[in-house]
Amino acid sequence: MWTDDLTVGIWEIDTQHRALFAQLEKLLDACMVGRELEEVMEMIVFLDGYVDTHFEAEERLQREGGYPEYEKHRAEHLIFRTNLERLKAELVESGATRDLVLRVNQVLIDWLKTHIRNVDAAMSEFLLKKSGQLADMRQ
Ligand SMILES: [Fe+2]
Repeated sequence: MWTDDLTVGIWEIDTQHRALFAQLEKLLDACMVGRELEEVMEMIVFLDGYVDTHFEAEERLQREGGYPEYEKHRAEHLIFRTNLERLKAELVESGATRDLVLRVNQVLIDWLKTHIRNVDAAMSEFLLKKSGQLADMRQ
């Protein structure tokens, strides 16, 4: 599932993104063998900690680097947090269901396609360029 075009070039961020994908792969593998209801709870617990650590790391780097799109980027993180709160509420209300698994997968796959691939990539490009490391990173 992880492909090189998802690499943004900032070690801390790439490591965190890879951890998210490892968790998503675990969930998708569990779907193949009918264990997704057990695994989806683990994914939601993982995401609950992940959004704090990871979004805060990205937002800190953007503030430090004077990233002009900071507020826009942060707004996307807030939307993800809202989606996660909905999924958590659904888990509490109805338990682990196949519907919940589908929605978790959908939210994460959308995030991969839209946010990581475009929004995080643009952020990294700016930050790396600014710190003069872009040439080195692409060698
Ligand atoms: Fe981000």
